Amino acid sequence: MKLLVVNLLALVALTLAAQPRCDISLTTASGSAVSKNNGFCSGELIFEDNFDKLDFKHWEHESTLGGGGNWEFQWYTNNRSNSYTENGVLHIRPTLTSEVYGEPFLSSGTIDIQGDCTNAAFYGCQRAGTPTNLLNPIRSARLRTLNSFSFKYGRVEVKAKLPAGDWLWPAIWMLPTDSAYGSWPSSGEIDIMESRGNRNLVQDGVNIGAEQVASTLHFGPATEFNAYETAHYSRNTAPGQGYNLDFHRYQMEWTPDRITFKIDDVETGTVNIGSGFWDRGGFAAKYPGLANPWKAGDKSAPFDQEFHLLLNLAVGGVSYFSDSASNPNGKPWNNLSPTAPLEFWNARNAWLNTWNYYVPGNTDSHLQVDYVRVYAL
Ligand SMILES: *[C@@H]1O[C@H](CO)[C@@H](O)[C@H](O)[C@H]1NC(C)=O
Repeated sequence: MKLLVVNLLALVALTLAAQPRCDISLTTASGSAVSKNNGFCSGELIFEDNFDKLDFKHWEHESTLGGGGNWEFQWYTNNRSNSYTENGVLHIRPTLTSEVYGEPFLSSGTIDIQGDCTNAAFYGCQRAGTPTNLLNPIRSARLRTLNSFSFKYGRVEVKAKLPAGDWLWPAIWMLPTDSAYGSWPSSGEIDIMESRGNRNLVQDGVNIGAEQVASTLHFGPATEFNAYETAHYSRNTAPGQGYNLDFHRYQMEWTPDRITFKIDDVETGTVNIGSGFWDRGGFAAKYPGLANPWKAGDKSAPFDQEFHLLLNLAVGGVSYFSDSASNPNGKPWNNLSPTAPLEFWNARNAWLNTWNYYVPGNTDSHLQVDYVRVYAL
């Protein structure tokens, strides 16, 4: 009996010694795909998708015609032509609306997706085409974790290969889940990675296409007072070695004191929170009388709330692609044009060629994601 007790004690001691040490993390999480909301160990993997399948428990597809305030040209669908997994990689693939509905449909058809529409803003659930007001010519996808996984503070790593092709706009980003400080951008936005697919888009001698990616925080007390330029960083590859050629790891570290963006473990930029985003934006001096929406928050507000992940491939729009940049085929539309989608569509031979769209098996125009991982701080 005594021997047994001694053995048991030894076993307990061994088991305790083998337990990894757990420093409780500040990170919180919520949503249908989390098993707990807090009490994570520091460094613990709290969300992972390796895309061995398209897991609808993790990802909700947006279904909307609205291209946000940028009036982007795509229609986000939940269709395996536009999002699918293959060999452990998620593909978001842009296709032509005319392939499903015929070309005349763009200028005379009606799309009504009210049954499964996820965003009604900007005529998102119903549109009618006219000869000057074309229906969204591209179908694509946006996946999000709004209901499945949100978190506050932590580390994100997304391994992805970016698309190449004119006017493609891939993004790996985060939005606030509850918008505690009001509508965009008062409650913030974290752009981990965004880029332009054009291989040779040049502004002021710099490639701003597939050889460049940017990371940005958007914040401000109202749409017209967004001070993102104080929290915006970009990085270029060596010439001829665009982000479309290989998988890279796009990373973000988010703490109460700083937000750091990295690519392949090399820092792109850090936002030191310091005295907070009201001071960072210089809003009090620039716009006297404006109310600080973050007064009641922590000093990292609005980035002191839970955010969720989004992965998407947008196309065109009237703000992200500058009219003054130089592109080998020019730019088919002007950002002030009221008929931008029509001008874009009329120039399709040029941009479809850069997508290698009709080359069988070619995936140049796809946003490819190998995995998404989120770790507790
Ligand atoms: C999905 O897209 C394909 C072609 O891209 C189309 O043929 C099919 O009808 C679509 N499915 C649905 C349910 O809309």
